Amino acid sequence: MALNILAFASVLRAGLASSPSTQARIQNGLAQTPQMGWNTYNHYGCSPNEAIVHSNAQALVDLGLASLGYRYVTTDCGWTVADRLANGSLTWNATLFPSGFPALGQYLHSLGLLFGVYQDAGILLCGSPPNQTGSLYHELQDAQTFASWEVDSLKYDNCYSDAATNYPNVNYAPSTSPEPRYANMSNALSQQIREILFQICDWGVDFPAAWAPSLGNSWRIGNDISSSWSSIYRLVNQIAPQTDFAGPGQWPDLDMLEVGNNVYTTAEEQTHFSLWAILKSPLVIGAALKDTSTSINPVSLAILKQEDVISYNQDSLGVSANLSRRYTEDQYDVWSGPLSGERTVAAVVNWANEKRNLTISLPDIGIQYAGTIKDIWKNVTVQNVKTSYTAEVEAHGTMLLEFQDTTPSGQYSASIFGSSSGNSTTFHAIYGLTDSTTYTLSVTFASTSSASGSITVKSSASSQTSTVTVAANTASVSLPITLTPGTTNSLTIQHQLSINSIAITPPEGTYYPNTKFTTTGYATSTTCGTGYCVPVGSKIGYIGPGGTAVTTIRATSAGTKFVEIDYINNEVSYWTGWNARNITVTVNGGTPTRLEVPLSGRHSELFGPGLGWWDTATLGVLTDGWVQGNNEVVIGNDGGAGYSVYAADFVGLRVY
Ligand SMILES: *[C@@H]1O[C@H](CO)[C@@H](O)[C@H](O)[C@H]1NC(C)=O
Ligand SMILES: *[C@@H]1O[C@H](CO)[C@@H](O)[C@H](O)[C@H]1NC(C)=O
Ligand SMILES: *[C@@H]1O[C@H](CO)[C@@H](O)[C@H](O)[C@H]1NC(C)=O
Ligand SMILES: *[C@@H]1O[C@H](CO)[C@@H](O)[C@H](O)[C@H]1NC(C)=O
Ligand SMILES: *[C@@H]1O[C@H](CO)[C@@H](O)[C@H](O)[C@H]1NC(C)=O
Ligand SMILES: *[C@@H]1O[C@H](CO)[C@@H](O)[C@H](O)[C@H]1NC(C)=O
Ligand SMILES: *[C@@H]1O[C@H](CO)[C@@H](O)[C@H](O)[C@H]1NC(C)=O
Ligand SMILES: *[C@@H]1O[C@H](CO)[C@@H](O)[C@H](O)[C@H]1NC(C)=O
Ligand SMILES: *[C@@H]1O[C@H](CO)[C@@H](O)[C@H](O)[C@H]1NC(C)=O
Repeated sequence: MALNILAFASVLRAGLASSPSTQARIQNGLAQTPQMGWNTYNHYGCSPNEAIVHSNAQALVDLGLASLGYRYVTTDCGWTVADRLANGSLTWNATLFPSGFPALGQYLHSLGLLFGVYQDAGILLCGSPPNQTGSLYHELQDAQTFASWEVDSLKYDNCYSDAATNYPNVNYAPSTSPEPRYANMSNALSQQIREILFQICDWGVDFPAAWAPSLGNSWRIGNDISSSWSSIYRLVNQIAPQTDFAGPGQWPDLDMLEVGNNVYTTAEEQTHFSLWAILKSPLVIGAALKDTSTSINPVSLAILKQEDVISYNQDSLGVSANLSRRYTEDQYDVWSGPLSGERTVAAVVNWANEKRNLTISLPDIGIQYAGTIKDIWKNVTVQNVKTSYTAEVEAHGTMLLEFQDTTPSGQYSASIFGSSSGNSTTFHAIYGLTDSTTYTLSVTFASTSSASGSITVKSSASSQTSTVTVAANTASVSLPITLTPGTTNSLTIQHQLSINSIAITPPEGTYYPNTKFTTTGYATSTTCGTGYCVPVGSKIGYIGPGGTAVTTIRATSAGTKFVEIDYINNEVSYWTGWNARNITVTVNGGTPTRLEVPLSGRHSELFGPGLGWWDTATLGVLTDGWVQGNNEVVIGNDGGAGYSVYAADFVGLRVY
């Protein structure tokens, strides 16, 4: 039965899940890599003026930021006035911008910078009152005005936009989608001779990843970043299900940078900048670089100028990192993704409030060995790294690593991992995903023999040895072996032919759909729309203090097991909460293991199928207390009732 469900599931994943790469995208040729620049808002709020924009623009050049790519200079809310001109055109606040906006553009262009403006898809700008008129129903005329001013980019906000509720300042749950309003401005911009980069800023309302790439060059994935460090966690939890929508010309925007605003510690600024860079967010500085009273501090400036990090953001491959592992109980995350030149970048984020040593298991990001690792914030390069890398990470800091010259996880060449003595070779730094006796070891010899022979294998994780025959004229042989979770297993192999390499494959595991679980208390099973809640088609919700999902799982060996949880969470948080929900796994009544999952929804939380509560995501976690034979497994929200009393919804579980 489980097998049939899985076969069905793979068809669904291939056929019905939305495929970002095949969606229509805007064809204005801009933002082939994420845009970079400076914006007034994070430091000056809705109170910009000409002197501020001039001095900061000049500083972009003088501090060497412009030559690193920070070129779009945008004056955010506060620049315009309540009334349009007699002929209906937009105009600037002449008290704040005495030389006028066309002259501001000329000034920026004379510095080699690009001219960014800000408007709103509602009747007023954010920051009103005092009232400033928005572009709703004036899209074409405003696009013409911007083109005539030689504008290079437009950030387009979403305040005062919901007619059905009489244009409130902000509405996170409008009665109609924001999309048509953004489409009208996109269409107006496309009619201009000048190409204008279009930044959609609807705060992630209505899952813009699904529609924004055809209309604009970037879309805000969530509500504003704030001076509170926890907003970083809120935003990365929101981007988690949509990282694969990033690509040349279309970037998910995590919001402007707080680096340099003296609201985060240095370690926090490094984490913030690292994540924004590898998640391919536009990098828009929001600090005061230079004005009459202030200038950016040199430590923050050095972060913004870190050329490796900028290169990850601007990498020609244009593929975003994603969440590889979340170690909730140990308070760290591993995010990783590919770079051009067959390199990989990874960020190990220390969410804990203290400095500590963190270890990344390279197989977590698909790597077994790296010829070179650049540890960016430590400013060291290490060679010959096998299976894991450990370094000290500050409280809220990040280990940002670039991997070069790598081999895929599970592949161990004898020249790197083996040490030989007589007819015996010991392989060190062998990785185990889970406690299992059914890993497959394949041994590849450097040559064949016309006579048959044998090898004897002993794993550090088992007291047993196994001997298998190597048939004549055969260059490889496979057998089951035992490993324990972690990076320090070793295998000793006695052999006649010399060994070239070994490969180790973990067991495939067994899938337990939620339909094999019994609900208790308030927990409720729900059938989802066809093609959703993959791979099962249903889920269990309302898991919490008053209800759980319980089943019995037979294990062929005891110990600590890796389980992958298929979960659903689309509790989008605009201010409070973290876009997260907990889910716990308790085995045989032992200590619950908690996973705090990010959002999984890939459809609109307002109008999409299941309101985004039918979109499954998967994260793996190690769970203790398994015995050989029958195990009671309880899915709950044990002790995790923080922001939500309910756990993430539960689709199924794969036990390795
Ligand atoms: C221009 O901005 C100043 C400063 O915020 C404000 O006092 C003034 O009312 C604004 N002018 C208009 C016409 O809105
Ligand atoms: C509206 O008037 C302003 C000020 O005279 C002028 O710069 C602008 O070009 C006019 N707009 C149109 C569409 O005629
Ligand atoms: C500001 O705009 C709103 C909405 O158009 C309007 O009701 C209000 O009277 C305006 N306030 C001023 C001071 O013009
Ligand atoms: C978009 O523009 C069209 C044509 O001007 C207009 O009829 C429609 O109401 C606009 N839609 C929105 C949502 O503003
Ligand atoms: C994360 O990215 C890797 C490759 O870059 C891909 O294989 C994997 O499917 C992605 N995972 C998710 C959840 O998008
Ligand atoms: C990290 O490990 C090193 C080497 O064992 C040790 O010297 C250092 O004190 C550790 N740092 C912390 C914060 O525990
Ligand atoms: C990084 O280390 C190199 C030498 O290894 C040094 O030249 C460079 O100044 C260091 N960079 C920073 C930012 O400390
Ligand atoms: C390896 O050598 C030992 C003793 O030197 C011998 O007992 C053993 O059979 C040999 N194993 C293989 C696979 O050749
Ligand atoms: C998850 O559980 C932890 C520990 O109880 C709690 O502090 C946190 O707020 C919970 N998270 C959410 C999103 O409810």
